[in-house]
Amino acid sequence: MTPPVNGLGLSTRQGIVDGLNRANDDAAVTSIVITGAGGAFSGGADIKEFGTDKSLQEPNLHSVIAAVENSPKPVVAAIHSVCMGGGLELALGCHYRVAAPGCSVALPEVKLGILPGAGGTQRLPRVLGVEAALNMIVSGEAIKSEQKLFDKLVASPEELAAEALAFAQSVADVRPLPLVRNLPCKHPQGDAYFQFARNMVKGMSKNFPAPAKCVDAVEAATKRKFADGLLFERELFINLMWTPESRSLRHLFLAERAASKIPDVPSDTPKRDIKAVAVIGAGTMGGGIAMNFLNAGIPVKMLEMKQEALDRGIATIQKNYEAQLKKGKLKQDKYEQRMALLSTTLSYDDLKDADLVIEAVFEEIGVKEAVFKELDRVMKPGAILASNTSTLDVNKIANFTKRPQDVVGLHFFSPANVMKLLEVVRGDATAKDVLATVMAIAKKIKKTAVVSGVCDGFIGNRMIEQYGRQGGFLLDEGCTPEQVDKAMEKFGMAMGPFRMGDLAGNDIGWAIRKRRYTEKPDMKYSKTADLLCEKGRYGQKTGAGWYDYVPGKRDAIPNAEVVKMIEDHRASLGITPRKISDEEIVQRLVFALVNEAAYILEEGIANKASDIDVVYIFGYGFPVYRGGPLNYANEVGLFNVVQAMNRFAKNPLDDAAFWKPAPLLAKLAAEGKTFN
Ligand code: 3HC
Ligand code: NAI
Repeated sequence: MTPPVNGLGLSTRQGIVDGLNRANDDAAVTSIVITGAGGAFSGGADIKEFGTDKSLQEPNLHSVIAAVENSPKPVVAAIHSVCMGGGLELALGCHYRVAAPGCSVALPEVKLGILPGAGGTQRLPRVLGVEAALNMIVSGEAIKSEQKLFDKLVASPEELAAEALAFAQSVADVRPLPLVRNLPCKHPQGDAYFQFARNMVKGMSKNFPAPAKCVDAVEAATKRKFADGLLFERELFINLMWTPESRSLRHLFLAERAASKIPDVPSDTPKRDIKAVAVIGAGTMGGGIAMNFLNAGIPVKMLEMKQEALDRGIATIQKNYEAQLKKGKLKQDKYEQRMALLSTTLSYDDLKDADLVIEAVFEEIGVKEAVFKELDRVMKPGAILASNTSTLDVNKIANFTKRPQDVVGLHFFSPANVMKLLEVVRGDATAKDVLATVMAIAKKIKKTAVVSGVCDGFIGNRMIEQYGRQGGFLLDEGCTPEQVDKAMEKFGMAMGPFRMGDLAGNDIGWAIRKRRYTEKPDMKYSKTADLLCEKGRYGQKTGAGWYDYVPGKRDAIPNAEVVKMIEDHRASLGITPRKISDEEIVQRLVFALVNEAAYILEEGIANKASDIDVVYIFGYGFPVYRGGPLNYANEVGLFNVVQAMNRFAKNPLDDAAFWKPAPLLAKLAAEGKTFN
């Protein structure tokens, strides 16, 4: 047993082989059962071991499976809960498989940028058939305990152990021992089918090399001898393991899970019970926030100043659910159950029973003050008071109450019912059990939560401000918004910076800049974005921003007047435009994020580098296969990042101060280290 999911690390692999040997040496043993203690049969190879010496040490998974196949006594896999990756490959090496119902069975390696590397691509098609197996391998998706894979499906998980033992006894004398490797593997329309499969994966595998290799490996199962197919699979597996895409996906897998861990908040910290939630403000964010809890079966009471605002908010929630109904993503009875959990009020006194209240009112400190004073008056002791503020000081908000320990920032991203990221803003006084509770509730509402300290913009928006500043300099020096956006989208961003500005509203950045002009008068900014806003071109909401928009559509149509506005401004500064390469665009924008992230790390605003990567992947559309800005910087090499920054600092049209490496970045680069 290796908690929590019986990953097949070195000690477990050795344990299986030792157990097999003992059982085979013991004359009293007639057959052998392998199962996983705890919450899983096995979640597969130990991902944390990848890239370390341990993953190479014998017995490797191939050797373990060979030992199982060569056992002179029958080996039965007793499968329950989770049987994934190497776990399923081990089970397929056993002579028989007995499973509990409701078990999650998958070969999810493709999601880590690799393919099943211990015979999964060769054995699964022999049991499930080529097409069903390839679908499973290419999608990585789990199926429930599937009859064809198993020799016996028991009635309930509780009966698995006894039934597997009985089954093992019943086959103790059966010879020859059945081996999956001896089953035939053919597809009646071989070449045509694999051509079709290659076309199918082409779209999904643009930036992911693994899916196409999965097709190659399964095709080999149909065309080569088993042993040759196994070697071919191994070669593909090792090559994929070393790709930056796989390193990034594996980094992200661990980063996402690490994000829920807060260094000074132990996992056994007691949590408060959250049975009922209140949301203040039924606007853009309030409605989306409420939906998250309704979807998780938690009742929500919404409060507004006026009935009309409540009616509008409820209508938007209904409209969103009805769109899901139409697309078949939601069933009518589920919709009704969710709406039945929603209630409204105009009176704070009706909120007193809520365990968690989330404020999403106008972004004005005076309004927040009034709301938090009311909440302090009515909420029961121990209730958690959260603010969805995107820019205001959470410590200040906490101090509007007499219980700052119960106050926390819960910064949802728009649309709040869709975006996975949740920044949990930890105030100076926020209690540890409040943090533990909101991290747990985030998981319940299917958000990926990252803790941020209090600062202007928290982790994500503080970094995006520097990214936006560089975007402005690029326009001044010779780029068009379209060129910058295309370069960033080619790099993999869901949206380039100017399309993103149009989506979020250019007036938001304008308001922040106006504040900066007084707060930090020496800071250099391009004026083009201000000129754009002066024309009322706020973005999609006004039908015009950096681009034009046709009502009801989101396509960004380049606008000649905007390009002329940029050119005129450039000329007024006396700048002769130059051709800027896509590489320079990408480096300047991404390294702007990286340098600010380094400050955020050394100030302790983020607990760890991987948290920042999670913020950018789940909140800002950073490409998954690059693993986040800091993982990308690690891949490029921090020495090279700093070299490039020094080069940019020499550009008189840029800002030398901007490119001064943060002390942490400079130190890591000088020491040849990474952010990890
Ligand atoms: N290796 C090491 N640790 C693993 C792991 C694995 N294969 N799978 C899960 N874990 C760890 C997680 O990191 C986490 O650790 P933590 O508590 O320290 O944060 C813990 O198990 C629990 O994981 P989740 O939070 O994800 O728990 P869930 O209950 O939500 O999900 C799961 C469980 C379905 C098993 C999910 O973790 C999962 O999908 N794991 C990945 C499975 C996978 O990709 N397996 C293939 C591995 S590659 C392989 O087998 C190669 C082979 O072909 C040669
Ligand atoms: P919005 O203007 O769409 O909605 C605010 C709602 O609050 C309105 O319906 C208003 O009637 C109500 N309201 C105002 N004062 C109130 C009071 N005293 N009591 C009760 N209700 C009151 O604003 P939006 O966009 O939903 O923003 C809300 C909060 O969320 C702000 O703090 C904002 O900074 C933050 N936020 C906004 C994001 C966005 O993209 N819109 C993203 C993340 C955070």
